[in-house]
Amino acid sequence: MTKNKFETIDTPAPLVREAILVRNITDMAGFAQQAGVDLRPHVKAHKIPRLARIQVNQGAVGITVSKLDEAETMAEGGLKDIFVASPITEPKKIKRLLKLSDRTGVSVVADSREGVEALARGASEKGKNLKVLLAIDCGFNLCGLPSDESAVKLARQICEEEALEFGGIMTHAGHSYRAEGPEIVQEIGLDEGRLMVDLAARLKQEGLECPRVSVGSTATVKMAGMVKGVTEICPGNYIFNDMAGVALGVAMEEDCALTVLTRVVSRPAEDRCIVDAGSKTMSLAKGRQSGTMYAGFGKVKGHPEVVVSRLEEEHGVLSLPPESDLRVGDLIEIVPNNAGLVINLAPSVHIIRNEEPWEEWKVSARGSK
Ligand SMILES: Cc1ncc(COP(=O)(O)O)c(C=O)c1O
Repeated sequence: MTKNKFETIDTPAPLVREAILVRNITDMAGFAQQAGVDLRPHVKAHKIPRLARIQVNQGAVGITVSKLDEAETMAEGGLKDIFVASPITEPKKIKRLLKLSDRTGVSVVADSREGVEALARGASEKGKNLKVLLAIDCGFNLCGLPSDESAVKLARQICEEEALEFGGIMTHAGHSYRAEGPEIVQEIGLDEGRLMVDLAARLKQEGLECPRVSVGSTATVKMAGMVKGVTEICPGNYIFNDMAGVALGVAMEEDCALTVLTRVVSRPAEDRCIVDAGSKTMSLAKGRQSGTMYAGFGKVKGHPEVVVSRLEEEHGVLSLPPESDLRVGDLIEIVPNNAGLVINLAPSVHIIRNEEPWEEWKVSARGSK
């Protein structure tokens, strides 16, 4: 059995290399400063208040979340100025959102008349003022209104509600992750920024000022964030990066701070071995094949010849050349395709400092609703 410096860690387990993490955080903070935009990282990517505090200490103006539980856990962890970037439409949840605003700055998105009315009703019942940003669809076809008359109409409705304050406009170019290559990603990013700045100008003509023009997924942020008139970027995944980002050309494998440590538990055939990380650890996020770079459910670090070809719930199947020396008991690391999904499946991450296990940090906001 090969001795490994991570032998003390029970597998399967996510590892986070502190040095890469810190570099990713400071690089994005540096980009925001250079571009003259506010950085409001999306913490769904890590769900760990301590990491969010590091991001804020490095210059982020606040944080972005997608779930209310996530917002509450982050507020408990001392985070201030929380942007809930998913529509909250249910009265019970709106009450919680308003309660949260007792202790920290809160803003939230809306993209429907019903949603705006529900927020306004909740806020006025509580005698509070709630900041609402209008969600715009820049091509992802998830939430958000198209950048047309319907957006102007809803922005006006938000402005007219006494209990609401119009916070501006936001978008998320999630479709960039399906782009065919780096050039298309760049185009999507540029379009994202321009679409939002044009809409802000249009709203201004109508007398509706947009304090925040918010954009930016990790894939597109370096283009969208440079468009003059954008005021805020909300990337999330950059903190760890993953093979999806590598395939899109927005990160290198050396920029991937998170890996999954897993042990070879069986080598039943010359061309196959089994590890103890399956879909309950790795998720079923499929790899994108970019040239011959990699295929499968993640990239095995230091073993370019190995493919993570199948994931069952508790086990992963690695396809190998018969001459591979991987043996039962060996520890390997897999760079996942989607780090955010791995995080949501993990109770904790092991922080690796100077190539030694240092501390174990709880993923406090995992499984948030
Ligand atoms: C609204 C919104 N903003 C920002 C992000 C961050 O995107 P990424 O993780 O690609 O950086 C997401 C991610 O899903 C999102 O939904």
